[in-house]
Amino acid sequence: MVLTWRAFQPSENRIIEAEASIDVNKHRNPENFSDQFARLAVMALRSPTDLLFRQRYICRAAMLETISGVPGMVGGMVLHCKSLRRVEHSGGWIKALMEEAENERMHLMTFMELSKPSWQERALVFTAQGMFMNAYFLLYVVSPRFAHRMAGYIREETIQSYTQLINDIDDGKVPNASAPDLAIDYWRLPIDATLRDVVMVIRADEIHHREINHFAADVYMQGHTLKEAPADMVTMTTSFGELLSNHSVLISVPFTARSHASTT
Ligand SMILES: [Fe+2]
Repeated sequence: MVLTWRAFQPSENRIIEAEASIDVNKHRNPENFSDQFARLAVMALRSPTDLLFRQRYICRAAMLETISGVPGMVGGMVLHCKSLRRVEHSGGWIKALMEEAENERMHLMTFMELSKPSWQERALVFTAQGMFMNAYFLLYVVSPRFAHRMAGYIREETIQSYTQLINDIDDGKVPNASAPDLAIDYWRLPIDATLRDVVMVIRADEIHHREINHFAADVYMQGHTLKEAPADMVTMTTSFGELLSNHSVLISVPFTARSHASTT
C-alpha cells in the first residue's frame, strides 16, 4: 500500500514500543504555589472537555490531542528563537520538543481518522487550538518552568483518559475497531492491530512526554536552564523501556552530576 504521509514517520533512531511495565499512575506532587496553579489550570481545562464529550471517548481524545500538540511546538519555537538570538546551543531540547510536537500531532491525526469529526467539532478544535496556542506561548515566555509543569500535568490527565479508554475497550463498552493505516505505519504495529493496540502505544508516548516535561520543569526549579541538562540522553535511546529507565536515572541523579556535553 502506498501512503501519502510518509513524512510523518518518526526519526530513524526511534523504535516505538508499548511497554506494559511502565508506571501509568505516576503523579508529580505539586511542591509550591506555581505547581499547584499549573495543576488547577489543567483541571479547569479538562472540565469542559469532560462535559462536552462525556462518553464519546474518541472525540474526547481528539480534543485532548489538539491541546497536547501545542506545548512541544511552542517550547521548541521559543528555544529555537532564543538559540538564534543568543547564538548558543539548546542542549538538544529544540529537537526533543519538536519531536514531541510531531508525535502529538500523529496522535491527533490518528483519532481524527477514527472519529470522523463533524464540522462543528472541527470548529471547536480550531477555536481551542487558537486560544491555547496563544496563552501557552505567553506562559512559556514568562515562565518556562510553569509551562513545562503544566504540560506534564496535561499528560497525567491524558494518561488517565487513555487508561479509561483501554478499560472500556476491555469491558466491551467501546468497539475494538481495526487500527487506522497511518497508525500501523507510524508505530510499526502488526497489520491486524486494533484500536486497543493504538491506544497502548499512544499512552506510552504520553508517559514519555510526562517525564520529559516534569524533568524540564525541575531543571528550571533548581535554578538552571535546559541547555545545561542535555536532552539527547533521554531522546536517543532505542526503546521506551530503555528510555524510561534512563530517564528515571536522570531524574534521581543530582543535577550537577549529569553530563553537560551536548552540542546540539
Ligand atoms: Fe497525545
